[in-house]
Amino acid sequence: MSADHEIENLSHENRHFAPSETFARNAIAQVDLYAEAKADRLGFWAKQANNLHWHKPFTQTLDWTNPPFAKWFADGKLNISYNCLDRHVEVGNGDRTAIFFEGEPGDSRELTYAELTREVKKAANALTALGIKPGDRVAIYMPMIPEAIIAMQAVARIGAVHSVIFGGFSAESLSSRIEDADAKLVITADGGYRKGKASALKPAVDEALSAGKCASVKNVLVVRRTNQDVAWVEGRDVEWSEAVGNASDEHEAQAFDAEHPLFILYTSGTTGKPKGILHTSGGYLTQAAYTHKNVFDLHAETDVYWCTADVGWITGHSYVAYGPLANGASQVIYEGTPDTPDWGRWWSIIEKYGVSIFYTAPTAIRTFMKLGSQIPEQHNLKSIRVLGSVGEPINPEAWMWYREHIGGGQAPIVDTWWQTETGAIMVSPLPGITTLKPGSAQVPLPGVSAEVLDDEGNILGRGHAGLLVLTEPWPSMLRGIWGDPERFKETYWSKFEGKYFAGDGAKWDEEGDLWLLGRVDDVMNISGHRLSTAEIESALVSHPFVAEAAVVGAKDETTGQAIVAFVILRQNQIEAAGSDSDVSKILRDHVAKEIGPIAKPRTIIVVAELPKTRSGKIMRRLLRDVAEDRPIGDVTTLADTSVMQSISGKLAGGAND
Ligand code: PRX
Repeated sequence: MSADHEIENLSHENRHFAPSETFARNAIAQVDLYAEAKADRLGFWAKQANNLHWHKPFTQTLDWTNPPFAKWFADGKLNISYNCLDRHVEVGNGDRTAIFFEGEPGDSRELTYAELTREVKKAANALTALGIKPGDRVAIYMPMIPEAIIAMQAVARIGAVHSVIFGGFSAESLSSRIEDADAKLVITADGGYRKGKASALKPAVDEALSAGKCASVKNVLVVRRTNQDVAWVEGRDVEWSEAVGNASDEHEAQAFDAEHPLFILYTSGTTGKPKGILHTSGGYLTQAAYTHKNVFDLHAETDVYWCTADVGWITGHSYVAYGPLANGASQVIYEGTPDTPDWGRWWSIIEKYGVSIFYTAPTAIRTFMKLGSQIPEQHNLKSIRVLGSVGEPINPEAWMWYREHIGGGQAPIVDTWWQTETGAIMVSPLPGITTLKPGSAQVPLPGVSAEVLDDEGNILGRGHAGLLVLTEPWPSMLRGIWGDPERFKETYWSKFEGKYFAGDGAKWDEEGDLWLLGRVDDVMNISGHRLSTAEIESALVSHPFVAEAAVVGAKDETTGQAIVAFVILRQNQIEAAGSDSDVSKILRDHVAKEIGPIAKPRTIIVVAELPKTRSGKIMRRLLRDVAEDRPIGDVTTLADTSVMQSISGKLAGGAND
């Protein structure tokens, strides 16, 4: 089937689900939101911003005089943590639960807004005592425990800048991110519980800081979660229980400029070097809070919200650590994996806490779908009111299964399109307004302007597929790439003058709904996690056995895409190493060590040559055809057209998994 046919099939969907009358009547977002934003876009955003508390009100909404460097609410001052915590306590909501924490071993902990505020104040004082000042960078490498959120909020409270590094990344990835940001402090834990075991984190920090690396780091603040033995560097390592435990719980939040940096979050781009995406304060929190409230129809007094994302990803920033707290929501935080002790764990958590809004990724839904509906059926999921999906396209079958088996056949599903760079949701239905269509992210949110363009930049209308762009600046947009303004301009703003190029293919269907068609660059999406082909290629070639490598993302039924690596080996090195063990395993483990287990190729295919154009560019399109077991496309631009025959012959002869 040609790609065009696939797109045609994808965006023909006859099933439509209008919101129920009761839902629509009680919904937070009402239909005039669209008209309001259309009539006065900046006025609309200013109104959303004014739902926050400003120590000094802003008078200017947007400064776009020096594109692509936007300033939102620039003359205003606020404190992010005050907005997420203190103000709820001050209006009398201190007793409301902020966090229902569920540890993987079954321990649980509840923190009210008053308690969370107190913990964050103590942590803020502890950070200040460790010499952290506004603008300093703090790396956070933590399991999903309340202290991860306390740490992020405390860093934000004192105007420092956090860089959270996902706990699944390797010591190597950790140290390159710490070095890029010149972090002064690392906050970590001894370990966390995953898959029924204590999984260590501190050793990766020790390794990341070893041998003179990361000289900027003065201290490592360590939370005890698993109580496993950890090495201790006197003078550098500090116990969280002492530093935070003994700190004063009095801390007055100081106001910072709206454009004060809030965090850096590294994400994969098209080169081997991850990009430090920079977000600032006022605009980011405005849009995180606005989207969290309207897209999920949050009724903070009664809802229990749960987003399964880890704080190591943008979803765990905007929809765990910031948006829900800014809105005074009660949320569940779960430490572990969905299969521990069995595949019913998530559903038992929903039942236990009465979760009413649930936000997860299509990969998880497809996994559950395969396992069968008898698992969720053993649990009472009647509390569910709204379901969300994020990270990758959700296929209509998975959408229908999600609605039927998790949403009781009636919960609206919001398929939310956005990126680390956009900071918050950009395209999504609104649950009380939009008539839902399985598989489509549907419409730009009020205040957001998106278009689909052809390669020349012409605006495409209904029925046409092209490239997704955002045509107007938005409050939570990235403000740059840490330390690399040129790369920021080049990556996002150079393809189409004055417009943000997202890197995604998209199509408006005949009814005006948007379908996301996946990345059009060399970025892969594995289980909703973003990885670049170049990053994995450079990890592979850093091994002495590998002469050359080309990596592609091949379609995968469960994970969306899977990593397939084509490698040319150095036979002499393998012989010299006397290695008769499984080269494929050695290389997969090597990638896990260099980047992290999520980057392990699913398949490694040993080849004699790679398909290249006459100018030496690897033709990944052809390798994808091989990896996806399709007839090979046009090979006429190859320097040597026989290469593809040899590769597909190799595959037929058996690739090693
Ligand atoms: O390709 C799009 C896909 O995920 C990419 C962004 O990845 P990341 O920055 O890691 O953020 C993921 C969580 C927001 C996008 O360029 N993507 C994200 N959401 C969707 C999606 N693709 C289709 N539908 C979505 N709802």
